Order: sequence, then structure tokens, then C-alpha cells
Amino acid sequence: MARQKVTLGGEDDHGDEAEQAADAELRIVAGERAGSEDQAILQLRPRDFGEYVGQGNVMHSLKIAVKAAVNRGEPVDHVLFHGPPGLGKTTLAHIIAREMNVRLEHTSGPALERPADMVGLLSNLEAGAVLFIDEIHRLSSAVEEYLYSAMEDYRVDFVTGAGAYAKTLSFPLQPFTLVGATTRAGLLSSPLRDRFGMVYHMEYYSDEELTSVVKRSAGILGVETDEPGSAEIARRSRGTPRVANRLLRRVRDFAQVEADGRLDRDVAAAALDMEGVDGLGLDRLDRLYLTTLAHQYRGGPAGIAAIAATVNEEPQTLEDVVEPFLLKLGFIIRTPGGRRVTPEGSVHAGVPPGRLGDASSQGTLL
Ligand SMILES: Nc1ncnc2c1ncn2[C@@H]1O[C@H](COP(=O)(O)OP(=O)(O)O)[C@@H](O)[C@H]1O
Ligand SMILES: [Mg+2]
Repeated sequence: MARQKVTLGGEDDHGDEAEQAADAELRIVAGERAGSEDQAILQLRPRDFGEYVGQGNVMHSLKIAVKAAVNRGEPVDHVLFHGPPGLGKTTLAHIIAREMNVRLEHTSGPALERPADMVGLLSNLEAGAVLFIDEIHRLSSAVEEYLYSAMEDYRVDFVTGAGAYAKTLSFPLQPFTLVGATTRAGLLSSPLRDRFGMVYHMEYYSDEELTSVVKRSAGILGVETDEPGSAEIARRSRGTPRVANRLLRRVRDFAQVEADGRLDRDVAAAALDMEGVDGLGLDRLDRLYLTTLAHQYRGGPAGIAAIAATVNEEPQTLEDVVEPFLLKLGFIIRTPGGRRVTPEGSVHAGVPPGRLGDASSQGTLL
């Protein structure tokens, strides 16, 4: 069965597959799966509530729920985290297990192919364990159905035989906590979503919060940095701690080679300019998306499949990673007819808004 056992506090990173060398440059910011997150990066993952920066509202309510559950000696209610990649969903699942002092089983929607995978996983859970299902929106409905009674009554129901001979067998399970994570809450079926006691939307981090993340990570990595240097990295990290850590690592290399290891604002800015990460944190793929929409599609509306084909990228990567931040910046909008670039977006793409679609305006293909 395809699943991964993780002991408490164990580190792993599903979804951060081997580096695709050819794409790495384009995707330094946008590609969640672009960078192989090595040990140095994994050691940056906060281990308990105290180390976790930001997400104030989520944390406040989650801490109360965990504390109350610990006091009652019961598992905490099932939790769903949704939001863009790299904002700390997986981290929080691990933290819940650690704070509850229980084991964590880590799996993902696509890994649970057959109902037997799900039933086997559920029936082997220790009492009180956290079952973490990443990309939970990708469970097949046949597999997902076994979760309903498991979540509600801690049991699995089987139907054996057919027609008049059909019989339902019911097996009890140990009480457990399901923690689900998804970048697409909208794709979750409502029977599944309704069974989560707590549903949290993860927000992009503020520059101040990301500055704290960078300072903390620099401390762990032994990088000498000052406030303006950390703030410069934070400002270009598109609200995302994973990106902040990745950029810090790039800037650290640059600082070692070009500046005796000192990481101040100028060094950070020079290193990130060189990596193609602009002042707003957009990388080449983000800008390619913008210029494509502004120039080739004359500002839109254009469908995601068409844009993806033009920029030679997976539609899902664009939808999960590129578009949420461009939407947040107000550079694009989604309309029933497709995506449109806003005047601000086309200015950033180097296409003057008055000249959208004007063939003489080449824009700069950054
Ligand atoms: N609140 C936070 N404080 C500090 N670092 C964080 C925080 N959230 C995430 N990180 C860092 O970002 C990385 C990615 O987080 P992760 O939990 O894997 O994101 P997600 O599961 O939402 O894609 C982690 O390894 C961790 O180093
Ligand atoms: Mg994750």
C-alpha cells in the first residue's frame, strides 16, 4: 500500500519531488515542486505552536481546541486546512500531533488508490493518532466514502454480497483525528467537508511575519543577516514561508561567494535580482503568465488551458501557485469568460494598459 509512516516529529515532504533542473530557474518562486527540500530546509520546519509564526486567527482557535482535547483525554476534532502551497498546512498537521503527543500517519489523496488502502490505513491507526491526508481533494469517491463513518462514528462499514444477500459489516476503529490539507477547498465534496469540525483558511503572511521567519531560519542555518536584509527577502517571498526559506538559501550562497557571507539589503536585492525574482516577489513564470495574457491574449479573457499551453506549464501549477498571488496583487481577475489582466497587471508586465493587444507594443518578455 502506498503510504508513509512518520513517527512523531518526523520530517518529510510529500510534494517536493526531485528537482526538475530545466524548470528550476523559471520556477524559483512559483514552483512548489521545483526545489528538492533538503535536510537544511526540513530542519527549518517549526515543531510546536511556539515556533510557528503568524496565522493568528487559525492558531488562536487551534490552540484552544488542542488544549481542551488534551484536558479531556480525547482526540481533537477533525481539521481541514486549505490555501495556497507553502503556507504551513503540513507543518500544522505535524504540530498538532506533537502537541497531542500522538503518532502521525502521513498519506495523500492520490496515494490511496483503492478502498482497501483506506480501510487498511484506518484499521491500523493507534488510539488518538493523527491521520494526515495531503491533497485530500484528490481522493477518489470510492475511497472517500469509507471516511464518512470513520470520521463520524470511528467505524468502517462494508457491504458484502449483492441484492437480497447484501449484508453490512461494521468494524470499530480507534478514535483518531483526521487532518486534511488541500489547495482547492472548492473541489471537496460536501459530505466530506461537513465532517470536519474545524475548517481553516490559510492566509498569505505579512512582510513582518515573513521577516521573523527569515530571521529564525537564518539563525538555524547560521547565516549572518540584519533586519533590512531579512526584510528584503521577506518582501519578495510572495507571502509564503516556503518561498522565504528557499530565497534565503539562494541569497546565502550569493552572500558567501560575493560578500564574505554577510547578508544585508544590498546583497539580498542583488542576489534576488539575479535569480529573476522582482521587487514584488514575482518570478519569471509569473511574469511570463502576465505578459502572455496582456500581450498575446490582448488582456484576455483567456481560458486557463490556453494560457497553460502557451507558457508550456501545467494548468494546475498555474491555478495553485501562480494565479492566487496574482489575484491577491490585483494583477488579474477571473471572469466567467476566462482570465483578464488588470491595468496594474499589464503595467507590471511592461505592456501599457492603453495599448493592450496593440501589435506594435511588444512589452518586455521578462
Ligand atoms: N508559520 C510558519 N512559521 C515558520 N515557518 C513556516 C511556517 N509555515 C511554514 N513554514 C516553513 O515553510 C515550509 C513549507 O510549509 P508546509 O507546511 O510544507 O506548507 P504547505 O503544507 O501548506 O504546502 C516549512 O517546511 C517551514 O519551514
Ligand atoms: Mg504540504
